[in-house]
Amino acid sequence: MEQQRGSFTGKLGFVLAAAGSAVGLGNLWRFPYLAAKYGGGIFLLVYLILAVSFGFALMITEIALGRKTRLSAIGAYEALNRKFRFLGYLSCVVPFIITPYYCVIGGWVLKYLTVFVTNQVSEAAADDFFTNFITQPGAPVVFFLIYVLLGVVVVRFGVEKGIEKASRIMMPILIVMTVFIAIFSMMQPGAMEGVKYYLMPDFSRFNATTVLAAMGQLFYSMSLAMGIMITYGSYMKKEANLEQSVRQIELFDTGIAFMAGLMIIPAVFAFSGGSEEALGKGPSLMFITLPKVFDSMKFGTVVGAVFFLLVLFAALTSSISLTETLVSIVSDKFGWTRKKSCAVILIFLVAVGIPVSLGFGVWSFIAPFGMSLLDFFDFISNSVLMPIVAFLTCVFVGYVVKAKAIIEEVEINGAFKFKKFYTVMIKYIAPVCLVAILIFAIMEAMGVITV
Ligand code: PFF
Repeated sequence: MEQQRGSFTGKLGFVLAAAGSAVGLGNLWRFPYLAAKYGGGIFLLVYLILAVSFGFALMITEIALGRKTRLSAIGAYEALNRKFRFLGYLSCVVPFIITPYYCVIGGWVLKYLTVFVTNQVSEAAADDFFTNFITQPGAPVVFFLIYVLLGVVVVRFGVEKGIEKASRIMMPILIVMTVFIAIFSMMQPGAMEGVKYYLMPDFSRFNATTVLAAMGQLFYSMSLAMGIMITYGSYMKKEANLEQSVRQIELFDTGIAFMAGLMIIPAVFAFSGGSEEALGKGPSLMFITLPKVFDSMKFGTVVGAVFFLLVLFAALTSSISLTETLVSIVSDKFGWTRKKSCAVILIFLVAVGIPVSLGFGVWSFIAPFGMSLLDFFDFISNSVLMPIVAFLTCVFVGYVVKAKAIIEEVEINGAFKFKKFYTVMIKYIAPVCLVAILIFAIMEAMGVITV
C-alpha cells in the first residue's frame, strides 16, 4: 500500500491539510484555559519561545522523516533503524489516548451548538449551566456518541475530502469571527485587566509547571510527538519547501490560539472577575465564559450559533485526522478491512469515551491521582508520553540517523536557513530540556499522590 502514496496538490495543499489537523480544540479550547490558569502573559511568552524553538525543530524533523521514508510512523522509524521500531509504536499510543476524550469535548461543542440554535443563550450564560450539563448521566453521553459516530462515518466512507473542503471555507470565517469576538470581549467593562493579564508577563509566576504545561500544549496543538506529522510528511511532494511550510503551519496554529486567548481571557475578567477561581476553571473555561459574552451581545444567539458551528468544524477536521490515524494503524497491523477497522475503533472510542464523560458525574469516583478521567488522560498523553516520544525522536535523529540526514531532506528544495540552530536544538538543547521536564512531570504526579 505504501507504493502508491498520493501527494498533496498545489503549493498550499500540504500546509492547509496539516493546518486542518493542527487547528482544532487545542487552539480554541485548551490553549485559553491553560493560559488563564498558568499566569496569562508568562504562559503566552513561554509558549511562543517554545513554538519557535522546539516546535520548529520537531515539526521539521517529523515531516522530513515522513517525506524521506515515504512511510507513516511505525514504518518510518523502522526503515531508518530497526532498533527504533518501538518508537513508532510508542508514538501511535498517543492518539489512542487522546481521541476518546477529544470526542467527549466535541460532544460538548455539539451540545452548545444546539443550545444556541434553539435560542437558550441566557440559560447557557447562567453560572451552573455547564456543570449541570456535564454531570448528567444521559445528555453528555448522547452528544458524545453522536459526535463519535459522525467522525467514524466520515472516515468509513472516505469522505474526509468533503469535510476538508468545507473547512477551507469555514476556517477563514472562523478566524474573522474570532477576531470579532475578541474585540467585543475586550470592549466589555473590566476586560482591560484581562488583556493586561494575558499580554504582560508576570515573571514571578514563572515556574517549571508553566514550562511543562506550555510544552504539552505545543505538542498537542501542533499534532507533534504522535506520529501524525510523519504521516503528513509522507504525502508531501519533494518540490515543496519544507522549512517554509513548517513556518506557515506554526504561524497559522499559533495565531489562532493567540486570538482564542484574547477572546476568552478578557471575558473572564469582565464577567467573572479575575479571581484565581474564575481563571482556574480548566477544561470548562470556554463553555462557561463564551455564553456570557454572547448573551451580552446584540445578535448573540446568531453569533454564538455560527461560532459553535465553526468550532465544530475545526474540531471535526482534527478528530477525523485522529480517527483516520487509528483506523490505519489497526488495519495495517492486523490486515483488517476498512469496514472492520472502523467498527473496532468505534467500539474502542465508545468504550473509553463513556467513562470519560461519566467521570464528571455518576462515575466521578474514578479519579486516578485525584484527577477527573479526562484530565488524567490529558496528563498522561501531553505531559508524559509526548515528552518521552519527543526525547527519543531527538536522540534518534541527533545521534542515530544524524541531523545531517534531515538537513539534506529539507535542502532538496532550497537552503535550510536555520540549520545550525536546528542541529544544536535537536542534539543538545531539546533532549536535555525534555528530560528535565519529564522528571518534573513525574515528580508532580507523585506530589499529587501524596497530597
Ligand atoms: N492539534 C489538534 C488540536 O489542536 O486540536 C489535536 C490533534 C488533532 C492532534 C489531530 C493530533 C491529530 F492527529
